[in-house]
Amino acid sequence: MEQTFIMIKPDGVQRGSFCEIISRFEKKGFSLKGLKLMTVDRPFAQKHYEDLLSKPFFGALIGYITSGPVIAMIWEGEGVVKTGRTIIGATNPAQSAPGTIRGDFAIVMGRNIIHGSDSVESAQKEIALWFPDGPINWQSNLHPWIYE
Ligand code: RTP
Ligand code: MG
Repeated sequence: MEQTFIMIKPDGVQRGSFCEIISRFEKKGFSLKGLKLMTVDRPFAQKHYEDLLSKPFFGALIGYITSGPVIAMIWEGEGVVKTGRTIIGATNPAQSAPGTIRGDFAIVMGRNIIHGSDSVESAQKEIALWFPDGPINWQSNLHPWIYE
């Protein structure tokens, strides 16, 4: 089953919205396979966002992600990478649809509250980086009520 890496960024933790954000994934029917509150240092944040190293906003992005605790999660389910990105909304909250997390909770790109893996390959890399011990192996009793 497909897995994705979702991270509530420091602004999402500070603003007291994280329970509601997490509940959107839970209500959808996806399964939580890992969760931890943690702070990351600059080298770790740089590794996570290494594809964006050449971007002009890279320094600000690393400062943002290391500015406070984040909530790192693994979510599992059919199509969870793509659907997770849909639940999160467009990168720029000014263009995120209402009803998406960024559309409902954020205003500017540099405080867009949440990260989600952009492909199955990125998800695998990010899960290995953030959860070196791997996901928690369990299955919800609701599974047959969510999948046919
Ligand atoms: P994320 O990786 O955090 O889920 O965001 P994303 O895929 O929607 O967007 P990405 O291109 O990967 O950018 C990563 C994060 O960098 C910040 N950003 N700032 N000022 C800017 O032009 C700019 N562009 C991107 C955002 O915090 C974005 O989520
Ligand atoms: Mg991205």
